[in-house]
Amino acid sequence: MSESETNPRESDGATVDSDVGDREPMLLRLRGVSKNFGAVQALRHVDLDVPAGKVTALIGDNGAGKSTLIKAIAGIWELSSGEKWWLGNKMVSHTPKEASDLGIATVYQDLALCDNLDIVSNMYLGFEKTKSGVLDEVSMEVRTKETLRDLSVSTVQSVRQLVGSLSGGQRQAIAVARAVMRDAKLVIMDEPTAALGVTQTAQVLDLIRTLASKGIAVLVISHNLNDVFAVADRIAVMYLGTLVSSGPIESYDMSSAVDLITTGTSTRAA
Ligand SMILES: Nc1ncnc2c1ncn2[C@@H]1O[C@H](COP(=O)(O)OP(=O)(O)OP(=O)(O)O)[C@@H](O)[C@H]1O
Ligand SMILES: [Mg+2]
Repeated sequence: MSESETNPRESDGATVDSDVGDREPMLLRLRGVSKNFGAVQALRHVDLDVPAGKVTALIGDNGAGKSTLIKAIAGIWELSSGEKWWLGNKMVSHTPKEASDLGIATVYQDLALCDNLDIVSNMYLGFEKTKSGVLDEVSMEVRTKETLRDLSVSTVQSVRQLVGSLSGGQRQAIAVARAVMRDAKLVIMDEPTAALGVTQTAQVLDLIRTLASKGIAVLVISHNLNDVFAVADRIAVMYLGTLVSSGPIESYDMSSAVDLITTGTSTRAA
């Protein structure tokens, strides 16, 4: 699946994030990533670094290529061309299973949770613990509570509650907790707060910061620039399939981000 090669040179590609530093191998490094769907060029030569312990916000207008990019990272789409590097190793083939084994978790708000099962069962779905041939409910319940406590998820009243009865923000928290319990190193979220109210949005943003503080990389797509400026360490802007700008959040403000999203360029970026 991966072969040992050295990291691509910092000079590779036009939009290399040289500010990220390279003492440790970069968690995820994309170089020249392109994806075509027939005549549609959804991704054009994307270079992106995603460092551990940081929140990277992926922003851009409808159809800019954000979802396609995260699906390429999660192994759902094969690349038309380009390279993906994980912790300094070039990824040769890449299926969703291999991505998940590496520690790449994609969290969807409404998918992948079973409403008719309780929180513990959802946390362990497909990975159930058994003891003497029967489900080890006690240890699964204990571990679920520990993980939620560790992530400061305090609004869930009982881990035996059916997931169907949870709010959108709580569901998001359970999906994230499940990824963390399986040792995710990179958690990808596509519009995690799109359907949430003010309080729930704040809870999800807190959870995103908690993940980063544990050394986990978060790559989050959002159309809400208030959320982006509240939570992100870094910004990556897509425009018509091209990554037009990326760097630390301090290099952007609301108007330069809007310029980049709507025109692909900004004279106001710092
Ligand atoms: N499976 C597919 N088949 C053909 N074209 C696709 C497919 N998926 C995406 N595209 C095209 O690729 C381009 C990028 O789409 P993508 O879904 O990545 O955009 P996005 O940035 O996530 O947009 P949004 O903000 O609306 O979710 C669009 O032109 C879209 O029509
Ligand atoms: Mg999308």
